[in-house]
Amino acid sequence: MKYDLENINARFGIGSKKWQEMKNNPLVDEKVIPFSVADMEFKLAPEITEGLKKFIDENILGYAGTNKKYRESVCKWQQKHHDFTVDEKWLVETHSVVNAFFTAVKAFTQKGDGVMLFTPVYYPMYKAIEINQRKLVEIPLINNGMTYDIDWDLFTKKAKAIDTKMLILCSPHNPCGRIWTREELTKISEICLANDILVVADEIHADLIMPGFKHVSYGTISKEALEHSIICTAPSKTFNLAGMQLSNVFIANENYRNLFKAEQATDADFACSILSYEACRLAYEYGEEWLTEVINIIDTNKKIIMDFMQEYFPQVKITQLQATYLLWLDFRAFNLTNEELEMRNRQKACLYFDEGYIFGKTFYVRAIHRRFFLCSLKSCYHQFIQIRNNFVDNMKKKVFITAYADDVCYLFKVLRSILSSNAIVGKEKHFYIIVKITNSDKYFILVHRHFA
Ligand SMILES: Cc1ncc(COP(=O)(O)O)c(C=O)c1O
Repeated sequence: MKYDLENINARFGIGSKKWQEMKNNPLVDEKVIPFSVADMEFKLAPEITEGLKKFIDENILGYAGTNKKYRESVCKWQQKHHDFTVDEKWLVETHSVVNAFFTAVKAFTQKGDGVMLFTPVYYPMYKAIEINQRKLVEIPLINNGMTYDIDWDLFTKKAKAIDTKMLILCSPHNPCGRIWTREELTKISEICLANDILVVADEIHADLIMPGFKHVSYGTISKEALEHSIICTAPSKTFNLAGMQLSNVFIANENYRNLFKAEQATDADFACSILSYEACRLAYEYGEEWLTEVINIIDTNKKIIMDFMQEYFPQVKITQLQATYLLWLDFRAFNLTNEELEMRNRQKACLYFDEGYIFGKTFYVRAIHRRFFLCSLKSCYHQFIQIRNNFVDNMKKKVFITAYADDVCYLFKVLRSILSSNAIVGKEKHFYIIVKITNSDKYFILVHRHFA
């Protein structure tokens, strides 16, 4: 591995939203780890850090405007990674993707107009609709076990309603980790074009694609679909640059582009920071290798979690992760209320999640999902050991002790010889073993130091 994706920076006290918000909550204990706000704990790609240092050495940080090198890097990235041929003049900058879909709702719909969402979905999308007094038109996704699908009959019916004007499409989908296929996107575009519905495609997760899958940009579906859509992209999720506050929105239709910019201008003069343009350019020009390693780690961690859950909590349904670093798990089998599960997470497992119910009202009562962040091996390991401890007192009332080792296989042998008849050694895994001390209520979980 070329990059250091194991050591993480301490982020509390330096203005990290995720850490600060959690620590500000008096009900949350010191030890609790946040898995709420979606940024990764990985260190930045050194190509970005070193590039920014050089930039600061050579420049001052005055007012900034867009610049050619940045714009070219954005367009090239879309072409290379998503076969999306964009004209530089379509590119409109915003501070964030959330900001972009809020602006689109205000620019292209009126109070009372219907805006469709495939739910459950990223929660600020509800807010963009409700706070602007538009009408939420929900199309609940159908859960087909491992994955989620669109209810085409319902979608067609709702799209036909005279006051339905917009679809905010999360593609890839958060929280279901789903990539929409070209066939599905084509069908979506046909339904929307037939009913004069503008599609706002949030493609912020488009670069976080698991091996074996491919994101399809809505901009590549057809010329008509492109002309009737707003496509929101950003380097923020992909390269951990959310704090830079720069997103790249493609609006091919000149009329829409002007309306969007006019709405943007109602707030104040729009400007991004000089560092954000440079960070974006560095990421798109030099960050590809780092991203490949990050994706492989996410994929490995996903497999480890799935393995673990299958062994200890087979009743938890895990949605197939095709994209994003967010895993969607269904804990309904435990029959806990949202509040009970939340308290358990925070007080016993010492984990602070974005609980599943915030992603959709129809999921509020029964669907107790939670999202896992698949960021670094350490946090991944921590998550499931905590989950295990969380539920274990209920299951067996045993005490677990965690020990760390460099070579699990070696220690496994040593331990067996030392403890011999005193211990029953559980199944050996590639990263941990469970050892039970007979005639005692103690278990050891022996963990490879790499995961500790
Ligand atoms: C689907 C989706 N859109 C937008 C965002 C936030 O993006 P931004 O910080 O650019 O507003 C997130 C963050 O988790 C997301 O999952």
